[in-house]
This record gives sequence, structure tokens and C-alpha cells, in this order.
Amino acid sequence: MQRINSKTLAHLMLMPILGSAKCVVDATAGNGHDTVFLAEHSSDDCVVYAFDIQQDALDSAKRLAEERGVAEKVRLVLDSHENVESHITDEIDAAMFNLGYLPTGDHQITTQADSTMKAILTMVRKLSVGGMVTVVSYSGHTAGAKEQERLFAELSELPVRYYTVSSFRMINHKDTAPMLFVIEKVRCENR
Ligand SMILES: C[S@@+](CC[C@H](N)C(=O)[O-])C[C@H]1O[C@@H](n2cnc3c(N)ncnc32)[C@H](O)[C@@H]1O
Repeated sequence: MQRINSKTLAHLMLMPILGSAKCVVDATAGNGHDTVFLAEHSSDDCVVYAFDIQQDALDSAKRLAEERGVAEKVRLVLDSHENVESHITDEIDAAMFNLGYLPTGDHQITTQADSTMKAILTMVRKLSVGGMVTVVSYSGHTAGAKEQERLFAELSELPVRYYTVSSFRMINHKDTAPMLFVIEKVRCENR
């Protein structure tokens, strides 16, 4: 049984900060597994925003949140994650991106490098100090490979004074194994 993969590692990274979080974001809700993870590990007064561009995905996420008894703290947003500022005015304590397409859905509806980068850069600016953004990225399809290349290039350039950025990959798996990026805000940008 494989316990460690990019998705479980993302959860482990966020776990220590969720208890005191007040506003967290699942930027790619899909079937709602990350939405429910965020809701189950945060306090009752934390709001979990779940973005997706597909109504079917949000319906699945809603169903799962209801089954697990956390629907009350979840706000479903049918919009692209790049528009996060139109929906959230508060600081964000944690955000998760699980890129690509829904394995059970239309594979043409997938995250794209431009909007993903815009969303991540907006999200990191809105992070509270000590907050984190995790991004699981897949290079095994054309749009995903382009997206991962952009992520690596642009996230490597985030200023070290304000952000710590790391990437994780299974080094004995295929080159296309999912990669996890973690961005932690270490200091407020205007200091
Ligand atoms: C790999 S799935 C996410 C899986 C999900 N985290 C889960 O736990 O089930 C990627 C999702 O991103 C969504 N997506 C694609 N582009 C998006 C965008 N610009 N904004 C928000 N969601 C997007 C897709 O519709 C799809 O549901």
C-alpha cells in the first residue's frame, strides 16, 4: 500500500495550519475530496470556498460534503479560480489546487497554464503570513505538461524574502508522476 503520494503529501503539509484557519480555498473542487478534507480538519467557524467551472463537479462536491456532515461551512463557487478576488475579500489561510481534469469527466475541460498561474499568484498575495498554497500538477497530458513547466519557472522566481517554495516528486516513479508544489508565505509583502 502506497501511503505517500502528491495528494496525501499536500494534506500533510496543510494539516498543522488548518486548526486555526478562518478562510480556506479548494481552487479545483472536482468531486469534493479536497473540499471535504479542508472542512473536516478546520474549525467550525472556518469558511471553505470550493471553486470549479463545472456545475456537475460542484454538485458532486456538495453531495460529498452533505454525506460527511460539513456542507454548512462550504461555499460552492461556479467560476474560474482566477476570479478569486471577486468572491473572497478576506485573507486566505490555505489554498489547494489539484490541477488537470476530472478522471470521470470530460478530459477536454482541464486547467490551463495562464489561468492557473494567475489564480496561484492572486492566491499567494492574499495569503496570511504562515499560510500555504499547495498545487498538485500532472505532466502526463499536453496542457498539463505546459502548465507544470510554467509553474516550475514562475514559482521559482517568487521572492524568497516573502515566500518559501518547494516541489516534491517520487524519484523512482515515471517522469510524469504528479508533482507537488508548496508555497508558504513567510513575511508580509509590504515589510
Ligand atoms: C483533478 S480535478 C480536481 C479533483 C478534486 N480536487 C477532488 O478532490 O475530487 C480538476 C478540476 O478542476 C476544474 N477546473 C478546471 N479549470 C478550472 C478553473 N479555471 N477554475 C476552477 N476549476 C477548474 C475541473 O473542472 C476539475 O473538476
